[in-house]
Amino acid sequence: MKNLLLKLYTTNALTKDELLYLLTNIDEEYEKELFRLSDLTRRKYYSNKVYFRGLIEFSNHCRNTCKYCGLRTQNKNVERYRLSTQEILDCCDSGYKMGLRTFVLQSGEDGYFTEDILVDIAKRIKDEFPDAALTYSIGEKSEACYEKIFNAGADRFLLRHESANKKLYEGLHPNMSFENRLKCLKNLKSIGYQAGSGFIVGLPNQTDEIIAEDLLLLKNIDLQMVGVGPFIPQSDTPLCDCESGSSRKTLICLAIVRLLLPKTLIPATTALAVVSKDGWINGVKIAANVIMLNLSPPSAKDKYRIYDGKNLLLDSAKQSLCSTISKLNREGFVADMSKGNYPDWERNDNYEYNA
Ligand code: 5AD
Repeated sequence: MKNLLLKLYTTNALTKDELLYLLTNIDEEYEKELFRLSDLTRRKYYSNKVYFRGLIEFSNHCRNTCKYCGLRTQNKNVERYRLSTQEILDCCDSGYKMGLRTFVLQSGEDGYFTEDILVDIAKRIKDEFPDAALTYSIGEKSEACYEKIFNAGADRFLLRHESANKKLYEGLHPNMSFENRLKCLKNLKSIGYQAGSGFIVGLPNQTDEIIAEDLLLLKNIDLQMVGVGPFIPQSDTPLCDCESGSSRKTLICLAIVRLLLPKTLIPATTALAVVSKDGWINGVKIAANVIMLNLSPPSAKDKYRIYDGKNLLLDSAKQSLCSTISKLNREGFVADMSKGNYPDWERNDNYEYNA
């Protein structure tokens, strides 16, 4: 185990068998060492900086039927909503005034937002806030559509692969294809987006071997952003009675991602905060360097229930900005409100390994 961790730290790579061995056999002592090496690696590129983003959940309509997600089409217990372009701009404006310089626009796969509308939203955001970065997280689109939105000003795109195992992926996502998911990620990268992906930890029937495949997929695509969070059952889905993913396993995965992709931007996910009270700050202490503040209007926040418990985090963005920054400062981290592009890291060799 010691040699494996050292190899992961020095080469930023492991084989599938090595990852599987690590995931299955790591004990408390080596877990501490894994977390130490991951933290050291993050500090080497990002020092103690944590970037802030503003998240706008602009529609909870979705044509898909993902078995774990509360926004799935068949869920009749959701009150569906869409924000208008003006409402989206107002959310950006409130975030901009707080100092945020990245807006993440997320929605279900909602056909109402045609290519033309998405292009218009991107142009208007970039016109009004030229010094801010725009991230879309809106699911699968054609290559041509991704390209038009990119040309209209979108800088980044988040599309989690959810699970790298074709059988598990297709079992959880009726009528969707794993190959198309990968093709979308490839297209996003080749168009020039800073691309993000990621997976869910603790999905029913997920094995350590599948998690090893998830980790390798992220490494092979060489992503600039990686989101990993625990599975949380949602009461109106077919997986409502399944157990949540563990925060310990999620933290181990985050640390491995940090070591496989040292410069990647990793958010401390909301799902981590839902499964464990200290989840998000532990995520930051170990590997994460991004926090997303929810800028959606209160009425929308309450309806964007992808998993249970999410609506309990209903502090206003301003309140959470203050409390999050003080908690970070107490732990020795500093908030960085700049755009925080992937290439903005700077290597600092003060953080070196000592055995
Ligand atoms: N538990 C954990 N994560 C979920 N997501 C959706 N539903 C759940 C759930 N029940 C994640 C997916 C999606 C992201 C926006 O939220 O990974 O990509």
